[in-house]
Amino acid sequence: MSSREIIVAPSILAADPLRLGDEIRSAEEAGADWHHVDVMDGHFVPNLTFGPPLIRAMKKVAKKPLDVHIMVSNPDDVAMSYVEAGADILVFHAEATHHGHRLAEAIRAKGARPGVALNPATPLEFATTLAPHVDVIMLMSVNPGFGGQGFIEDTVQRVKTLRDWLVSKNLESKVIIEVDGGINKDTGARVVRAGANALVAGTYIYGATDRSVAVRSLKSLG
Ligand code: DX5
Ligand code: ZN
Repeated sequence: MSSREIIVAPSILAADPLRLGDEIRSAEEAGADWHHVDVMDGHFVPNLTFGPPLIRAMKKVAKKPLDVHIMVSNPDDVAMSYVEAGADILVFHAEATHHGHRLAEAIRAKGARPGVALNPATPLEFATTLAPHVDVIMLMSVNPGFGGQGFIEDTVQRVKTLRDWLVSKNLESKVIIEVDGGINKDTGARVVRAGANALVAGTYIYGATDRSVAVRSLKSLG
């Protein structure tokens, strides 16, 4: 595949939660393209994180877009409150929505970019049916809920299958393939080679001694 831009989205989940403003600025200085914000409800996933008030506070500090990933059981009910709080990209889970098209259109109508996420065991068809309506398809490369987990290798083939499908439908320049979980420069290289163009990385970037080096090592994969 020819050289292309890779969007790098550090996951705030791995930042110091007591210094979020400084952490957001530090990620931007390091070259981040988006801030990935993991919303967890303690129900769709066994962990609990941020709600709309914290998104609103982050939005005041962030100069780069907020890529808000809602791991919640009721995205149809709560997604819009995250858009209103400042999400620039709103990614909901295909497994949890009852009305994917309606939700994607509502997000777009409010001025944000809709995205759909799939857990590692969910068939790709759950996302491809929505592909003409979303800007991002996010393939989870871990079971969501926690940072710092190991990359699930099957993701590489899933990215390749999805990339080929998007090409066959002439959607390859309209839909971003984002990969989330266990990304570092080695796993990142494999999914980029398979066709991913956005990489979420929590531990690898926020845990790095030099965050700029970590961001650059992912950006250079394109
Ligand atoms: C997992 C989250 C990921 C997580 C990635 O549920 O959706 O975004 O923060 O963290 P790392 O890169 O540490 O696997
Ligand atoms: Zn995430």
